[in-house]
Amino acid sequence: MRLLFLGDIVGRSGRDAVTARVPELRKVLRLDLVIANAENACHGFGLSPGIARDLMEAGVDVMTLGNHAWDRRDLIGEIDGLPAVVRPVNFPPGTPGQGSTVVALADGRKILIVNVMGRLFMDAMDDPFRLTLDVLSRHRLGTTVQAAVVDVHAEASSEKWAMGHVLDGKVSLVVGTHTHTPTADHRILPGGTAFQSDAGMCGDYDSIIGMQKDAAVSRFVRKMPGERLQPAEGPATVCGLLVETDDATGLARRVAPLRQGGMLSQTLPDF
Ligand SMILES: [Fe+2]
Ligand SMILES: [Fe+2]
Repeated sequence: MRLLFLGDIVGRSGRDAVTARVPELRKVLRLDLVIANAENACHGFGLSPGIARDLMEAGVDVMTLGNHAWDRRDLIGEIDGLPAVVRPVNFPPGTPGQGSTVVALADGRKILIVNVMGRLFMDAMDDPFRLTLDVLSRHRLGTTVQAAVVDVHAEASSEKWAMGHVLDGKVSLVVGTHTHTPTADHRILPGGTAFQSDAGMCGDYDSIIGMQKDAAVSRFVRKMPGERLQPAEGPATVCGLLVETDDATGLARRVAPLRQGGMLSQTLPDF
């Protein structure tokens, strides 16, 4: 199976780049499924139900979230009607929405997607390791699902590496989001799980992690609340990674990063 995972979509610039490029990428890379973190899709903060539908129409099959999950409050009331949207599994019990979902392809193959938040330098959350393993205990990779993807929405690379090693051999891909910076550590772990600390953002990199520079810099320099952060509006780089998996085992065969458009160095998987 061929899965494309895209990092945090930030604002209009990120959305425009994703909606413009995904239909072509689906063909060129022969993709079976596209997953994107969409916690910043709506003007940098949250995901509105309307934007979720627009992204689905453009060919994003599943959207994951993170600490910005509820910045758009209209999603709280509508998330249960949006099965393609997954919020972190370690939110408190009773939180609307779902922490994981299983998507079936037209040919019947199934993919499990889990979204989980880290705890280092993040809001207090339930144990991401235990809750992810709880979800995995209800599925069998290579039997009930042909692939499984875990989006670890976390600040610290160490916590993401730890999640990669705990889940190695149990899922197809463990990929980090939240830092908005693509890392060069994509690899297949010894047990067969593809891994990357952070997929990077789909947004304008002439910015401070997607936000216009002056207001964001001012917060660091002046130590006073400044103007509201606004997303940068220049051309976005679509950042993510392609994973090819073996349906029989659900483990990864190949993994490669993708960076298209905008100011980052360009790369397209060559398999
Ligand atoms: Fe983000
Ligand atoms: Fe985040």
